[in-house]
Amino acid sequence: MFSDRTAWNLESNPLSKALADRITSAKQVIDLTESNPTKCGFHFAAQQILEALSHPASLNYDPVPQGLLSARNAVVDYYRSHECAVNVNDIFLTTGTSESYSFLFRTLCNPGDEVLIPQPGYPLFNFLADIQDVATAPYPLIYDYGWQIDFHALQRAINPRTRAIVIVNANNPTGHFCRSDDMHHLNQICLEGDLAIIADEVFLDFSLGKDMLSSFASNNKALTFTMSGLSKISGLPQMKVAWLIATGPETLKQQGVARLEMIADTYLSMNTPMQLALPALLELRHNFQRQCIARTRTNLAQLDRLLSTQKLCSRLNLEGGWYAVIRVPVTGGDDDLALELLNSRGVYVHPGHFYDFPADGYLVVSLITPEPAFSAGVEALVALVGEKFRKDS
Ligand SMILES: Cc1ncc(COP(=O)(O)O)c(C=O)c1O
Repeated sequence: MFSDRTAWNLESNPLSKALADRITSAKQVIDLTESNPTKCGFHFAAQQILEALSHPASLNYDPVPQGLLSARNAVVDYYRSHECAVNVNDIFLTTGTSESYSFLFRTLCNPGDEVLIPQPGYPLFNFLADIQDVATAPYPLIYDYGWQIDFHALQRAINPRTRAIVIVNANNPTGHFCRSDDMHHLNQICLEGDLAIIADEVFLDFSLGKDMLSSFASNNKALTFTMSGLSKISGLPQMKVAWLIATGPETLKQQGVARLEMIADTYLSMNTPMQLALPALLELRHNFQRQCIARTRTNLAQLDRLLSTQKLCSRLNLEGGWYAVIRVPVTGGDDDLALELLNSRGVYVHPGHFYDFPADGYLVVSLITPEPAFSAGVEALVALVGEKFRKDS
């Protein structure tokens, strides 16, 4: 009765089962994976958000496949603040970055074609690709006092079926940004191989440093599709508004835009109230980002303080984003350690394999967790690793 592409193993893994059991039996959980900004105790400008949703023009239906001009102009303004000049005619509004990926996979790939994805990386890629009958192949990120793309391995991963390279800027969960020489290198590879760049920039604004980071939205060398949306920028995932922007060599870009327009016209998935609210909701990002960046800085400083009292766990360097990667001794699998931490201390973390780390020894925590829970959770993690290590040695 069902398609092969949906023949997933839908059994929950032992960690998710243990989490569900704890929640059902009302046992305490300190959740160090929480990355839903609406659940992290941030202060949202409730009245302004709700007012933005009650625009009188919401009573009309005038569908525009790429999205209402007023909403796309707000996206242009956002990029202007990043010193990027974006053409309003090259923007498509979507209901989420996931939908943007789907539109792009449909535009660029035949069934069985491949896109290259970063490893470690965002866990949803394989599902997004599966649903569109696209294959993924990983290209490794390597860590040497900081993360970088392994360009040799990336080039080796390209084959005649490769259609695009996905870049996540800043990458989830490694928290590193793409530098201008990386962008240059990627452009060369993509121009030589007739490949497109898909740049996911949902974490672009969350740098821990002072410098403004370059967006791919002004990349005109290779065919490029830059994506972002309200879910991270303004901390409003429930609003379901995102976008993708086409740039690149003019003729190629125009062909891409025309094909995307057909897809967007077929679905017309954007609702009117949200498009009318977009300018106001984008403007409110400053209020959210101030709180969010302060939270990630405070939690990171606390993580460093707690880790400085011992030598078994350390954290990997990061430049931004919402996550920290903690290096732990490999006394067993990361899944087992995460399970033991949950069962014995009530602390929930993601094992590295969730993000496709190629080896054991990594746990991932969310830096937007409310501060008291973050501190208590990391303290329990460090204590457990210390006890285990003493027992094993
Ligand atoms: C790298 C990355 N892209 C996209 C998303 C989701 O974006 P959206 O809510 O717009 O689908 C996430 C969410 O965690 C993410 O980590």
